[in-house]
Amino acid sequence: MATKLMPRVRQPAAPGQLASSVVIASLSRALDLAEGEPMGHAIRACWLGMQIAKWLELRPAERQDLYYALLLKDAGCSANAYSVTHWFQADDLTTKAELKITDWSSQWRSMVFAIRQTAPSAPITRRMAQLVSLGSRGVGLANELVEVRCTKGAEMVRQLGWAEPAAAAVLSLDEHWNGSGRPRGLKGEEIPLLSRIALLSQTVEIFWRRGGGRAAETVLRQRRGKWFDPVLVDLVLAHAGSAKLWRQLGEITHPEHVGYLDPEPRIIPSGSLDDMIRIGEVFAAVVDAKSPWTTNHSTRTAALARLMAENMNFSATEQDRVGLAGLLHDLGKLAVSNAILDKAGPLLPEEMEEMQRHTSITHEILSPLWPLDDVAEMAAAHHERLDGTGYHRRLRGPEMPHGADILAVADVYEALTAHRPYRRGMEADEAIAVLKKDQGTRLAGEPITALEQMVASKRADEVE
Ligand SMILES: [Fe+2]
Ligand SMILES: [Fe+2]
Repeated sequence: MATKLMPRVRQPAAPGQLASSVVIASLSRALDLAEGEPMGHAIRACWLGMQIAKWLELRPAERQDLYYALLLKDAGCSANAYSVTHWFQADDLTTKAELKITDWSSQWRSMVFAIRQTAPSAPITRRMAQLVSLGSRGVGLANELVEVRCTKGAEMVRQLGWAEPAAAAVLSLDEHWNGSGRPRGLKGEEIPLLSRIALLSQTVEIFWRRGGGRAAETVLRQRRGKWFDPVLVDLVLAHAGSAKLWRQLGEITHPEHVGYLDPEPRIIPSGSLDDMIRIGEVFAAVVDAKSPWTTNHSTRTAALARLMAENMNFSATEQDRVGLAGLLHDLGKLAVSNAILDKAGPLLPEEMEEMQRHTSITHEILSPLWPLDDVAEMAAAHHERLDGTGYHRRLRGPEMPHGADILAVADVYEALTAHRPYRRGMEADEAIAVLKKDQGTRLAGEPITALEQMVASKRADEVE
């Protein structure tokens, strides 16, 4: 598999251990999907940014800050997904991907973008009305959407425990060298260097993917001194001369291809899942923020599943693994458009198919984290049913991964009892009665009994 240009891959220190650099690189692929980009966008942007850091001879601490800023630059992506769908009356993933190739600092191009992207499949009168409504919010709305994304993203970086410069880099990701960026309109060296590197790297990756080295070099020249710091542009162009740079970029496809670029990755021991749970909580919040219909869903499902596992006398380690799977189970939903997630009525067959892809995507995102294979299997099986009518593998009773039956029950119970924008959640007893209709046929009996006991003893009330 390795070719002579393949970058060096450093595995974690010992079998069964994970390095924070590979964990975050793996999970960054969920953020790519939420931005309408294919998995691997952030990893390649990270590799490119880290080459710039090497050419600039940045110190190890700065390189570490940059590494996590590049991978987590889109951590706030889900916070504006609902608003983007609402204001553009369009698929948020397509709108966001298109915005990434638009020079939105130009008023004219912003206008063309809005005309093309707003309610594209609606009748002309509705499109016009939506455009007027969008236009009335204008710059204020654009600032708001960027600000929510950047502020939330920076907050996530802080919650994950990386140093303030990494958070500051995410906060100013959309600022442009000539002051035309958002949300604060910073100019030149007012913009943190790490943000300048991150903006250039992410833009170049997108143009390179669509049109190769030539497209990447064109956007660098076109936006030199406008979006991008001229010194950084000249540096990249000087190294791009031989085309080797673009060839190497094309070989970056897996989280382990960048893991070695963090000068000092934290080692996450397999014995304790504390660090992974902390990371899982942050990513659960990213998933839950995507739609008002899923507020707190992942965190509540995880907490319920953990308590159920305790009630069923699982060991402390197994309880942690069930809880972690609960936090990460709907990661794949970041790849589903809010036009589907937030749809009030029943889904069309093709929309249902799109929605049901989320479990296999969850599995794919988690698959590089091999010491947690069982967690990935459990998370990806939360919609499987004992009688084989679930998805995505249509597993039957004995084929269900250990713990997946608990997660399946917790997931349904949470969805039934949660309050949503247009409906109140069911009372606990009512939800248990619904679950019992499937007890032993589609859903396992033991987890439902455990849940029933938790409700009776008021332990379920501990879950906010
Ligand atoms: Fe799900
Ligand atoms: Fe779920």
